[in-house]
Order: sequence, then C-alpha cells, then structure tokens
Amino acid sequence: MSAIVSCNLMNNNTEVRSAVRRLTLVNFRNYKYLRLNLNMPFIVLGGENGTGKTNVLEALSFLSQGRGLRSAKLSEVKTFDFLAQQQPSPVFINNSGWAVSAQVERFGEEFNIGTAVESFVKEVEYNETKEVERRIVQVNNQKLSSQNELGNYLSVIWVTPQMDRLFQGGSQLRRSFLDRIVYTFDVEHARRISSYDNLYKQWLQILKSGNINTSWLNVLEEQMSAIGVAIAAARKEQIQKLNTFIEQNPDDIFPDALLSLDGTIEKMLDNKPAIYVEDFYRESLFNQRRSILFNDTNSNLSKTDLCVLYKKKNVPASLCSTGEQKALLLSIILAHSRSLLYTKSIPSILLLDEVAAHLDDIKKNAFLNKIKHMRLQAWLTTTDLSEFASFNNISQFFEVKNNTLREVTLSF
Ligand SMILES: Nc1ncnc2c1ncn2[C@@H]1O[C@H](COP(=O)(O)OP(=O)(O)O)[C@@H](O)[C@H]1O
Ligand SMILES: [Mg+2]
Repeated sequence: MSAIVSCNLMNNNTEVRSAVRRLTLVNFRNYKYLRLNLNMPFIVLGGENGTGKTNVLEALSFLSQGRGLRSAKLSEVKTFDFLAQQQPSPVFINNSGWAVSAQVERFGEEFNIGTAVESFVKEVEYNETKEVERRIVQVNNQKLSSQNELGNYLSVIWVTPQMDRLFQGGSQLRRSFLDRIVYTFDVEHARRISSYDNLYKQWLQILKSGNINTSWLNVLEEQMSAIGVAIAAARKEQIQKLNTFIEQNPDDIFPDALLSLDGTIEKMLDNKPAIYVEDFYRESLFNQRRSILFNDTNSNLSKTDLCVLYKKKNVPASLCSTGEQKALLLSIILAHSRSLLYTKSIPSILLLDEVAAHLDDIKKNAFLNKIKHMRLQAWLTTTDLSEFASFNNISQFFEVKNNTLREVTLSF
C-alpha cells in the first residue's frame, strides 16, 4: 500500500446524481458503532483481508429489499457480544439489535433511509412462543409498510467476488441476479416472488404432511399459477428491455451480452396468451402432486434459467474465460445502471467488492470511467488503495483497520 496520511474531509462537492452523504452503523458485524461523512463519487475502502471492508458494503446493501449482498440471516449480522464489549462507543448502544442508516442526497434533495432489526415474541402454536427477528425499514423517520418500498427511493446494485461464479453455478444464483434487476425497475416483483415462495412452501407442507386437504391445494395452485405467470412475464419483459438497450447502446470496451430465459413458462408466453399459460401452469402443479409425494422432485416450473451469450463471439458465458466472464458481468451491470438512469428517476449506488480482480488496467479504468460519467456513487474495496490513485480527484479513501475506518489521502 502506498504511504498514507490522515486528513480532514475535503470540501470538493463533485456532482453526482445520488450519493450517501452520511452512513451510520450500529452493532453491524465488526462495527459496534461507525459513522462516516462522505462527499465524493468514489468511496474507496482499503485494508487487509478480514478487516471489515465487505461488511460496510453489506450494510449499504441492506438499504434495499432482501437479505443483503451476503444473503445473510438477520441474526448473524449483529456484532458478536465479545467484540461489542471491546469497542468503545460515543453513544449509548443497547446490544439488542442492529441498524444501518444513511443520509442520501438525490438530485440535490436529502432524505434519510434506515433499517433496523427488532426481535419480538411470536406465538407459534397454542401455548408455545418463540423469539423471532424482523427487519423494519423507514424513510424520513416514517416506517414503511414493506421492505419492497425501499426500491422507490434508492437502487443498490452490487458486484461481489462470489458473482465471479455467476455463469458457472446453479440457476438459482442467476435467477436471483435477474430478479434483483427486475425489482429495481418494478418494486412489485419482490412482493410477487415472496408471495410465490410462501404459497409454494404451504403447498409442499400440505403434500408432505400426509393430511391432504384437496380443496386447499386447489386454492394454492390457483394462486401460484397466477403469480408464477406474472413473475415469468416480468422477467421476460425485463430481458427484452435490457437486450434492446444493449443493442442500441453498444459498448466500446466491454463485450455486449445477449440475454435469454430458458424456462417452460417463459417459452410458452412467447406464443400463447397468459390465460392459457396460467391454465397449463395450474394443471402442471396438479400433476406434480403425485411426484412430490413420492420422490420429492422439485417443480420444473421454478427452474427457469438466465442464459447469457457473449454476443460477438456467439459463445455462452459459461464457456468463456474467467476474465471474459467478469467483463460480461460488468457489461450487464453497466447496461442495467444505464437503462435505470434512462427510464427511472431513481439513480443507483454501486457496491463494487474487489471489482478489479480479473480485470486488466485498461478494463478497470474504462469501467470506473463509465461509472464516473454516469455520475453515480460507487463504493469500492481493495487491499491496495493506490490501485485507485488515478481517480484521486473524485475519491475519498479510507483505511479499514481495528474495526473502524480512518480517512486518508494518498501521497505519491
Ligand atoms: N456478527 C459479527 N460480529 C462481529 N464480527 C463479525 C460478525 N460477522 C462477521 N464478522 C467479522 O467480520 C470480518 C470479515 O469482514 P469482511 O468485511 O468480510 O472483511 P474484508 O475486509 O476481507 O472484506 C471477519 O473477521 C469476521 O469475523
Ligand atoms: Mg471482502
């Protein structure tokens, strides 16, 4: 790492469309209490492995719907007790839950967005209770009725090292990647997905309980087919929009991707009316009752896959080199961010965890320049701050160490 010296916040208010201006974490992973004042488009966090860089990005990812960029369980996020005791804090903190709050500037206006976890006692069965945790979200100190509403205020897009395997791993990864994209354009998509998952769980539970209630199964299948087709249609529409966008805005450095969906329902929607597809879906669920009862096969209806093609080479992403796969992923991320800017007035914040890995300098700089030109705020992590030296004039650098962040300037 290059030599670093402490400094005060710089007052250079480089214009961005939206940015986190202040971030506060309470009891979040290795931070009992952390407050950062931010004033730059690029926020670069540097530190050794395991110092807590990704944890800060994860905290920001909780400003959107879902379980954050690690798909974490709510209970594993709260600072370990032994660590909390070691850390002094400028404010009194009771250690019962965790919280993240941010002052966000959007087109010159400021708002507060926050999330916290509270535990409450829930009656599970007669005379039996258990303590469960629930995430609550608020904007300008008003509680929102659902997490899904967060997407109306801020879009958070992330790239993590785990996503290097996006094109290699199982289809679940790619489906949730796509679903997050759909959600940033249409917040209702998250509600559809969670409703579907709930219905599916109930359906499976009844089938496995041995106490089969046929009329209730019929009701569930009716609802699942309607929502399932709506999910498929939303995914399909999103893919079409992204493809059109990529086609109309070819990239000079990153390889253009061609996206498609591989799924029974999506294919059927190509040439059949939705009402017909819903009937088909319901009948398929009905026919699956037996197979679920006897050999536990999963519904092939929920096995839709997102297929990505390296357009120019006509090669599927899964057969591309590691570097090419990373470039394709970033190309999709760029297209997603750009098309969001064009079509929605909700700019995004980008969380780029160790994004420079597998990228040569030309690609790395090109990628960061594209973000700079979109005037988006990006949070970057690295083990070597000097890696981002050429973006010095638009970056704020922090050294991550001893469970805290210290602002530094790079000296050359
Ligand atoms: N709930 C928690 N409480 C305290 N520390 C935690 C908690 N969860 C994870 N950690 C710690 O966070 C560290 C990893 O932080 P991370 O942000 O992934 O590091 P990196 O800087 O490599 O990105 C580990 O040392 C881990 O022990
Ligand atoms: Mg990390």
